[in-house]
Amino acid sequence: MTPPGPHGNGPQLGRAPRSATAPCLRTHRAGPSRPLAGSPGLPVSHDSAPQPLTARPGHALAGELKPPGDKSISHRAMIFGLLSIGETRVEGLLEGDDVLRTVEAARALGATITREGEGRWRVVGTGIGGLQDPADVLDFGNAGTGSRLMMGVVGGQPVTATFDGDASLRKRPMRRILDPLLQMGARVVSEAEGGRVPLTIKGPPEGIPIRYELPVASAQIKSAVLLAGLNAPGVTTVIEKAASRDHTERMLRLFGAEVRVEPHGEGGHGRSIALTGQPTLRGTEVIVPADPSSAAFPLVAALIVPGSEVTLRGVMMNPLRTGLITTLIEMGADIERLDEREEGGETVADLRVRASRLHGIDVPAERAPSMIDEYPVLAVAAAFAEGTTRMNGLHELRVKESDRLAAVAAGLAENGVDHVIEGDDLIVTGTGAAARGGGTVETYLDHRIAMAFLVMGMASENPVTVDDGAMIATSFPTFRPTMAALGAEIVEGANR
Ligand code: S3P
Repeated sequence: MTPPGPHGNGPQLGRAPRSATAPCLRTHRAGPSRPLAGSPGLPVSHDSAPQPLTARPGHALAGELKPPGDKSISHRAMIFGLLSIGETRVEGLLEGDDVLRTVEAARALGATITREGEGRWRVVGTGIGGLQDPADVLDFGNAGTGSRLMMGVVGGQPVTATFDGDASLRKRPMRRILDPLLQMGARVVSEAEGGRVPLTIKGPPEGIPIRYELPVASAQIKSAVLLAGLNAPGVTTVIEKAASRDHTERMLRLFGAEVRVEPHGEGGHGRSIALTGQPTLRGTEVIVPADPSSAAFPLVAALIVPGSEVTLRGVMMNPLRTGLITTLIEMGADIERLDEREEGGETVADLRVRASRLHGIDVPAERAPSMIDEYPVLAVAAAFAEGTTRMNGLHELRVKESDRLAAVAAGLAENGVDHVIEGDDLIVTGTGAAARGGGTVETYLDHRIAMAFLVMGMASENPVTVDDGAMIATSFPTFRPTMAALGAEIVEGANR
């Protein structure tokens, strides 16, 4: 097969992708985008003009909200639906751009997927071994999780697929996924320099079961190996030194696979996960709880806007996802966990959050996997806390949708917040009073950088502008109306 890309297989990639580091390229777009039949709308268009947004300080936030469905579980619901026999019904799916890309990819690989109502989807899968070669490049847009998990699927099955995405995804390391897949019998037919997308993977007729020690704590790598292991005869084992989110393990069991999870190593932080290959996965019902990573934005806003009281309904409390709540409580946050209950195999709770006087703390590196997506908004909380907050061991933040360590530091600098990066640690010092604000923050195609600094603008002395809010649609498409309903003021443009 010829290499993918402008001169390779599949449709022409057209113009250059919009850059995650060079905002001057933002009139360009990533690979092909096709309409999504039956979905609530087109994925966010990466060729539209940037959409600056400004958050202005205003009055206290009040009210209640249900954050959108969890992104990690939503991707997995589609992927497991694809790999199952029979029908999977999903309730509460996150209908953000990232997940819609996974919907499209699952369709291209052979699933029949229909939207039956808001957040309600039906998937009829092909079963393991029944996938078809996609006719087109799989364009994952901004979605690291969707693309990496689907690489695991393709890398374990007798299909060939080309993966691509926007300028942000094209910068992200994929070697970490390809290395174990090669050991499992997949071939990487072509790849962009440094193991990046666009890349083409050809899966084997049957995978080779392996024992794989994760080089970094990453649920994406773990999940890719386990998904590839579904078509391997025998036991595929993944060892992680620090436990990362366990949604894949839980859903493997829910769909009928046999998975053994045991503690691993000293200190009780690690796990060994053993999957018995070639199960029959059967379609089932998936209820998607509210995403704690999206809840983090209104939660921190309620803590730092004086006089606020907000209740967040049905937020997933999986202990591998609640590092931010633990941290904020240590900082003095008034967060009550109410009405803890089971929903779709996860514990959920309502969180009552009241504006609080926060103080700086040391956040241990071991906690990072349980709050890996929450550091941008924690840095904002730290800017309003009294004293120094040291966030340790943030190396993985450099390879997220943007280099989040650099993007957060630049945003703090723009808004007059005292901070320093020491190695992989971010140290933020607040005075206990409102941050100065008044800056314009570059978001580098990163939804969480955009939302974090809009939260800052709700509580700072002066408004805060983000250069582009379009990517917010990848994970929290209703962010603006949700925040407006609580009383926040977010306006279009660099309006002061
Ligand atoms: C995710 C895992 C995390 C996280 C991402 C979602 C998942 O990435 O940052 O937003 O759903 O598995 P890593 O596994 O690379 O840490």
